[in-house]
Amino acid sequence: MGSGTSADEFDEWYSNMRRSAALDDIHQRHLGLPPRLLSSSLLTWDGIAEVVEALRLKPEARLLDLACGRGGYGLEIASRTGARLIGIDFAPEAIDQARLLTRQFGSVAAEFRVGEFADTGLPDASVDAIVCVDAIQFQAGAEAFEEMRRVLRPGGRVALTTWDAVEHADERVSARIRAVHAEAGLTEAGFTNVVVRERPEWRAAERAMWEEAAALDPGDDPALHSLHREGVQVLAGFDLRRRILATATAGS
Ligand SMILES: C[S@@+](CC[C@H](N)C(=O)[O-])C[C@H]1O[C@@H](n2cnc3c(N)ncnc32)[C@H](O)[C@@H]1O
Repeated sequence: MGSGTSADEFDEWYSNMRRSAALDDIHQRHLGLPPRLLSSSLLTWDGIAEVVEALRLKPEARLLDLACGRGGYGLEIASRTGARLIGIDFAPEAIDQARLLTRQFGSVAAEFRVGEFADTGLPDASVDAIVCVDAIQFQAGAEAFEEMRRVLRPGGRVALTTWDAVEHADERVSARIRAVHAEAGLTEAGFTNVVVRERPEWRAAERAMWEEAAALDPGDDPALHSLHREGVQVLAGFDLRRRILATATAGS
């Protein structure tokens, strides 16, 4: 989700969200999320459990939520597992909101910083696991996968949720989604046990959410306007893309 590409565009997107309870209500109903989990994407409540299983986190493990947005998914995973969370996103407004949201998660140990996919600012081998929810499509080049491999300790796990094209050459699919080659990106960066699975159940919730978005009257709510536009666009090519969960282990 999100049609921008620069940090400024995402900042504006997040500022608009801050004022739109209607937007959060739509996410929560379709994705089955509790109100404290401020999503700006499409991972469902059941999907979070699959991601948690894939990450194999131990209490006190260091978890990086890369392109964390408002932080809800990382905070939820940390609160389920006892992991210590670091969230990174290039949009300062998202990081501000994530810091505020931390208060909703009681004793979870969390910090949030501004950083880039290709330049997180974290030391080598400093995290035990990485989660990246619905964001790698914004920078699916080798640099992002190499940065993940660099900051992850050997044996650490990564779980990415995203979309890719049924046919990579199909120009009806957006260039951003056609650029996602999760299996090759992870393998070439030195990950092992790379598994990319389609998640049709997640697609059903996603389709229902976009149908509501495409049908709604956004009125004077800019966050609903952008959801509405994206809904119309995504539904037009919905069957041309796959919903995927990619998991892997950092090689030694
Ligand atoms: C669809 S949102 C998902 C946010 C969050 N993971 C969630 O699921 O709620 C995509 C996120 O990617 C971030 N992003 C896009 N390009 C980035 C980059 N080059 N470096 C860091 N973050 C980036 C955006 O700021 C945005 O927060």
